[in-house]
Amino acid sequence: MSSNTNSSPITLAKRAQVLKPSPILMLAAKAAEMKAAGHNVISLSIGEPDWDTYENIKEVAIGAIRVGMTKYTPANGIPDLRKAIAQQVTEDLGIEYDATQVTVSAGAKFVLFAALQALVDPGDEVILVAPFWASYTTMVELAEGTPKIVVCDEDVDFKLTPELLRKAITPKTKVLLLNSPSNPTGKVYSREELKALATVLRDYPKLAVISDDIYNRLSFEEKVAPHLLNVAPDLRDRVVILNGASKSYAMTGWRIGWALGAKNIISAMSSYQSQSVSCATAVSQYAAVEAVKNSDKHVAATVEKLRERRDFLVAELEKIEGVRVALPEGAFYLWINVKSYLGRSFKGKKLETSADLSAALLEDQMVAIVPGLEFGIDGYLRISYALEKEKGKEAVDRMKNFFYSLK
Ligand SMILES: Cc1ncc(COP(=O)(O)O)c(C=O)c1O
Repeated sequence: MSSNTNSSPITLAKRAQVLKPSPILMLAAKAAEMKAAGHNVISLSIGEPDWDTYENIKEVAIGAIRVGMTKYTPANGIPDLRKAIAQQVTEDLGIEYDATQVTVSAGAKFVLFAALQALVDPGDEVILVAPFWASYTTMVELAEGTPKIVVCDEDVDFKLTPELLRKAITPKTKVLLLNSPSNPTGKVYSREELKALATVLRDYPKLAVISDDIYNRLSFEEKVAPHLLNVAPDLRDRVVILNGASKSYAMTGWRIGWALGAKNIISAMSSYQSQSVSCATAVSQYAAVEAVKNSDKHVAATVEKLRERRDFLVAELEKIEGVRVALPEGAFYLWINVKSYLGRSFKGKKLETSADLSAALLEDQMVAIVPGLEFGIDGYLRISYALEKEKGKEAVDRMKNFFYSLK
């Protein structure tokens, strides 16, 4: 009888050979495994709300199942959802969008994947602003593009400046990928900063922008974070707006994301979708209509809860000697400078990088935190503070014990 083996004689395709699983999901899975084995682990790793999907949304989904809205939908999404999204973005930006300029898919992650597949040819460069969301680089590589990483450290408040943008552009540059509020820093570009970037973009009319707005409603200063198209509506035909239900409406597992833009780009993305996943889950799409249309008051309450957690945790972290925190203006992450602890020793082993620090912290104190290295810059850790205050406090206490024990 033949037995299962882990190794096939078949060579993997080159793109699969370079493919790495999401490091954040891996760390979260490891923390969950340790928890299941009975360890008292606190995970600050995954970018997921700890509060439930709002009741009104769940009720609509249950109703949709009952009346049989459970079949394939158009590849680009049900018309009601596309209409609701177009209306929301029209209000946010003061620019008219209609349902034909929207495509809906299985999470913003797949929408971004499809956008890069639709825009990037082999060898094209995609400008990524480091620190960036860990999946960007791999997605660019899967489109056979070249990530052009622009490091934006503390000196520029972790944001792209017009000077750095101009310097990064070459004849091969195809896309600039912007993310505000940012994962991992929570930083938000001001209108003035966006205006200055737009001035550079106008000099390069063949350059597309993908604006990853997934955290734009989790914003501490304004109801919706400022957008490039607020200040530069003339760029609308080359900006692909990316958003979704995961973060704003606590719907990570429903897998609904969307994009808006010029019809030819959106239509190419929809074709990509129709030949791959067919369509996003039908029930989730009906639920997302309710989320987009009728959840503003829940989102406002969530932002207040997040603000309280942010202020509390920042104050606690700042009590740890040698640790610095960049105050976030949106999303639910803290970006923590731990450079002063690099080079110290844990159990006789030198901690050279933030990845070493993160691994030792998990081993020693059972706290899972993603190392800055995964976001393209070393010397930082990223905390997701989408968790109860008491848990956050305990995690910070454990971090303090760990840092102070290093030799
Ligand atoms: C910056 C950023 N963009 C996009 C996504 C994708 O979100 P989803 O695929 O759940 O819609 C995430 C999720 O963590 C993110 O942090």
